[in-house]
Amino acid sequence: MADRADVVFVDGVRTPFGRAGEKGQYWNTRADDLVVKAMIELLERNPNVPKDRIDDVAIAATTQQGDQGLTLGRTAALLAGLPKSVPGFAIDRMCAGAMTSVTTLGSGIAFGAYDLAIAGGVEHMGRHPMGFGADPNPRFLSERLVGEDALNMGMTAERIHDRFPALTKERSDRFAMRSQQKTAAAYAAGKIQPDLVPVAIRSESGWGLATQDEGMRPETNMESLATLRTPFRPHGRVSAGNSSPLTDGATASLLASGDAVKEFGLQPKMRMVSFAFAGVEPEIMGIGPVPSTEKALRKAGLTIDDIGLFELNEAFAIQVLSLLDHFGIDDEDDRVNKWGGAIAVGHPLAASGVRLMIQLARQFEEHPEVRYGLTAMCVGLGQGGSVIWENPHYNKRARKA
Ligand SMILES: CC(C)(COP(=O)(O)OP(=O)(O)OC[C@H]1O[C@@H](n2cnc3c(N)ncnc32)[C@H](O)[C@@H]1OP(=O)(O)O)[C@@H](O)C(=O)NCCC(=O)NCCS
Repeated sequence: MADRADVVFVDGVRTPFGRAGEKGQYWNTRADDLVVKAMIELLERNPNVPKDRIDDVAIAATTQQGDQGLTLGRTAALLAGLPKSVPGFAIDRMCAGAMTSVTTLGSGIAFGAYDLAIAGGVEHMGRHPMGFGADPNPRFLSERLVGEDALNMGMTAERIHDRFPALTKERSDRFAMRSQQKTAAAYAAGKIQPDLVPVAIRSESGWGLATQDEGMRPETNMESLATLRTPFRPHGRVSAGNSSPLTDGATASLLASGDAVKEFGLQPKMRMVSFAFAGVEPEIMGIGPVPSTEKALRKAGLTIDDIGLFELNEAFAIQVLSLLDHFGIDDEDDRVNKWGGAIAVGHPLAASGVRLMIQLARQFEEHPEVRYGLTAMCVGLGQGGSVIWENPHYNKRARKA
């Protein structure tokens, strides 16, 4: 593996994710410090990579203000100790920010402009609440370019329930419960921890260390989920239990060209096969990954049956179910989100895309019988993003574990 124009995912790490808000573990931690910590660990884990050979750094954030402002890729590169000769920039595609960092720098690698690049994202939803300070153009509503619901992510999820009555609240709750259970099992088996970077945190009781995702609720059961309020609509179907929680966290990944793999003796964890973004009606933004996945499959010359592992961002359970249903995949298919997802670990918007990739890469190691995997996510204002990856450990004689 690793031809010259190949784009490979060499490695990825993330901070443990925290609950957003005053009680969350990162309330007193700066957003930029989170992504800098992840980048430092990424570089330490990959000592073969000369820091001055990194060609660019793209770091995403949705709210690019304050400690998430000042073109994060550049500031984070300087703070992480990269030489001043290494450039950097910031990216925003809301929830698909980190995914877009990867596809943008990956495209630069495929074009031959870069050999090594760092792509990641951060969102401190406690310090930067969703939509805070935004000033949507009044034409959106006065000219009915979008409905009012389009600006409220929970309402867009309720709208998917409206559109697909077969996707019931019971199915959403069950999917959410299983996400919590699968994440708890993955933690118990030590599958998630190897890619977490412990972060020093300060609270009223002094210094501490964040070592695991704070939002997990392993005790979740169908009875308690059934009693939760539906905050977006009276008698609705979307609750705190079947939504991703508001989250703080950061991710960073190292991408390389086939040439760099050879020059520095790197061990690729995944090869990028294709990617696509697509737009849908903003009022039902959660179905965005359906057309983006169809497009990415088409560009790769593959079908959905070729995908052996799925890492789908769980912004809302209903939104993942709408994709599974579209492709005729069972709610409990064991190729999908094997270690749970954002409902359990959280979804720090612009950071999450690389979390999906980190988990898919680890699962590829465990599943040499799988050749292709998909990372996909929905995006506010009606978009979806999908990246298809190839497993370098693929062995067609390997049997399903
Ligand atoms: C849904 C949402 C509004 C809930 O926010 P919240 O009310 O602050 O959430 P909380 O964590 O406080 O949970 C609310 C209640 O549900 C309970 N709860 C949450 N998850 C639960 C679970 N799995 N099992 C049982 N109870 C649960 C909490 O304990 C809490 O109970 P309390 O009110 O008695 O304390 C918020 O998480 C949200 O907006 N999520 C979506 C984020 C988003 O849009 N991201 C972008 C996607 S495109």
